[in-house]
Amino acid sequence: MNSKVNTENGVSPKRKKLQKIGVFTSGGDAPGMNAAIRAVTRAALSHGLQVVGIRHGYQGMIEGQFISLHSSDVSGIINQGGTILKTARSKDFLTSEGREKAYLNLKKHDVDALVVIGGDGSFTGALVFSQEYDIPMVGIPGTIDNDMFGTDYTIGYDTALNTVVEAVDKIKDTASSHGRIFFIEVMGREAGLLALNSGIAVGAEVILIPESKEQHEELKKFLAKGYKTKETSGIVIVAEGDEMGGAIKIAQTVTEEHPDLDVRVSILGHIQRGGSPTAKDRVAATRMGVAAVDALLDDQKSIMIGLKNEKTVHVPFSKAVKLHHSIDEDLIEIQRVINI
Ligand code: F6P
Repeated sequence: MNSKVNTENGVSPKRKKLQKIGVFTSGGDAPGMNAAIRAVTRAALSHGLQVVGIRHGYQGMIEGQFISLHSSDVSGIINQGGTILKTARSKDFLTSEGREKAYLNLKKHDVDALVVIGGDGSFTGALVFSQEYDIPMVGIPGTIDNDMFGTDYTIGYDTALNTVVEAVDKIKDTASSHGRIFFIEVMGREAGLLALNSGIAVGAEVILIPESKEQHEELKKFLAKGYKTKETSGIVIVAEGDEMGGAIKIAQTVTEEHPDLDVRVSILGHIQRGGSPTAKDRVAATRMGVAAVDALLDDQKSIMIGLKNEKTVHVPFSKAVKLHHSIDEDLIEIQRVINI
């Protein structure tokens, strides 16, 4: 932990400057966001800071939706999905007028610094805002996509992964009973990590992800040989951002080319974003929440807290939003090897 104090009264001169921090959630919600809000609030309070929660993300900042947060306000939320502060994808914050209103509201409420819990879009907004206005901002990655550069992990990913696995295990029962091929679409507009790992975990025959075109060949092979000769059923996991166009479109094409196959589609949708966070998500959220407050107290700004090799790290927003969390090629190879 970075929160070393270095003066006689236990409070460093730098740390005295900060009096009130704001915390908010932004973009798509993710299980574990509440655990992060709780950790930020309690860490800040334990350092003698005041905390305000901003409702509905950047939109609420523009509209002045500020509430005081005390320890009891974040009690009993560590196990809850969603976000008690609500969230939004704010179009107004994309305009300079919107950002000016947001800044004036922060000044009105004497907010000295901000913790934003969200993904790519939220940190892009934070980067622009902190370049325009002198307000230190630290980010906590919260998205089920696990697609942020600089961190091994984003809050919500583990819960979503387990939700997908549980749902697909159930679909496998009926797929097997009827001898059907199911095309199951999981979330991830631009990121296939959820699809790849859930596909491996459920023993999917084929996994289609935006990052790898080779998988389309695997699908052709499976349809031409594997299914007809030895399979009685099959699971194809499709990341929603796959370039072949999502599960419905792919299933249509496959049905046209192979009218003899019994094909069904299942789109898991927003079920993947809800639910009580797993222990892993709660712990990650708590660690990152405490680290975010520490970073602000240490005069850090425009950084995202990440977890790398089980240690918290600081990643500049500029890198976190520009670069992409690449897919581990080993996982693709593993899938290929075991699907003989
Ligand atoms: O970024 C998280 C995510 O769930 C993506 O996987 C998905 O493509 C997107 O959000 C859906 O967003 P919305 O809930 O706004 O439709």
